[in-house]
Amino acid sequence: MDVTVSDLCRNFGRVAALQGVSLAVDAGEFFAILGPSGAGKTTLLRIVAGIEHADSGSVRLGGQDVASLPVRARNTAMVFQTFALYPHLTTFENLAYPLREQRTPRAEIARRVNEVAEMLRLSHTLARKPGTLSGGEQQRCAIGRALIRRPRLLLLDEPLTNLDAKLRHDTRAEFKRLHRELGSTTIIYATPDQLEALSMGQRIGVLRAGRIVQVDTPDALYRTPGDDFVAGLVGDPPINLLPGTLRATHSGTRIDLPFMGIDAGPWHAVLDGFGAGTRLTVGLRPQAIRPVTAEPDGPAFTARVFLTEPLGDVTILDILAHGETRLRMVLPQEQAWRIAVDDTIDCTVDADQICLFAHETGTAIPRDGTAAGG
Ligand SMILES: Nc1ncnc2c1ncn2[C@@H]1O[C@H](COP(=O)(O)OP(=O)(O)O)[C@@H](O)[C@H]1O
Ligand SMILES: [Mg+2]
Repeated sequence: MDVTVSDLCRNFGRVAALQGVSLAVDAGEFFAILGPSGAGKTTLLRIVAGIEHADSGSVRLGGQDVASLPVRARNTAMVFQTFALYPHLTTFENLAYPLREQRTPRAEIARRVNEVAEMLRLSHTLARKPGTLSGGEQQRCAIGRALIRRPRLLLLDEPLTNLDAKLRHDTRAEFKRLHRELGSTTIIYATPDQLEALSMGQRIGVLRAGRIVQVDTPDALYRTPGDDFVAGLVGDPPINLLPGTLRATHSGTRIDLPFMGIDAGPWHAVLDGFGAGTRLTVGLRPQAIRPVTAEPDGPAFTARVFLTEPLGDVTILDILAHGETRLRMVLPQEQAWRIAVDDTIDCTVDADQICLFAHETGTAIPRDGTAAGG
């Protein structure tokens, strides 16, 4: 079932929780809503589910305006961040509950409970009560209860937030499998965690203070963030955002950072209209900075290492470029093991990975030939 949300607004007193949100989610899509706490994710999902009303705007499910459609008729199920199961009922009875409410015949209930339990790997827990289940099993039971009515739209509101890190990792893979197995079920998944959004969402809508600021694939969101907010939200460790200034030189224009200069050539089409002295924000991904031993083929600088954080396969280095600008870089372990705190290293930047933003508005400045729509 496809979902079209048009110009939704919702105020709570003076708080504008949603300020004109429009989105189109395809039937069968796994769509992630990524935004920090307070961005309006829960409000948006609740309005789509029909358990909250909008002040203005519309929601269409499968092409039908649902303004006058009660929650039960929407073919939609929602799983909340705090998944409440009935503590005195077994997994079987928790899963069966929505079907019993619908007065489904007993044989059909047994068949569907077993089917959902198998899909969610809960079969071994059917006779047990929630108190004896692990966090992940309780979570899957809550999802099973949402799925048992075979909704065509599943709304998941931070379903992994209350699980520990290992379980979150495993459950991300489970959600992808579930989405594949459900086939045509549309999933809208709200999360403040960029890793969850990027690893599961086929597309991601970034929500900031009640507005959608970008809708894109994970790859496009990472490579061509629409503004410095999205750039800072997507990617781990976070992108380095640095103040730059546009300079004219005899051989063209250059962007000066406190510790190095960057050829402004790739952004010529847009920067051509800006005067020398224009302030910019330069985004350098930690993955785009690397140490050099030979002659660098990109912009280069010298830095002192002041913190190393080995994470197993990679190491995060905090460095001071030219003794003043703090940067983060990330290196594969086999390149990092030789580097110690207080070492001085020569670094270069992969020029293809540099992102540029207008200083005042934060809006991305596209590279020549990559402007939106082109
Ligand atoms: N029932 C409510 N009453 C008052 N303010 C609310 C209510 N629900 C949400 N808000 C406010 O609306 C904003 C968006 O909230 P929410 O949708 O819960 O965001 P998120 O789920 O992204 O954290 C927040 O500022 C929140 O405090
Ligand atoms: Mg929320």
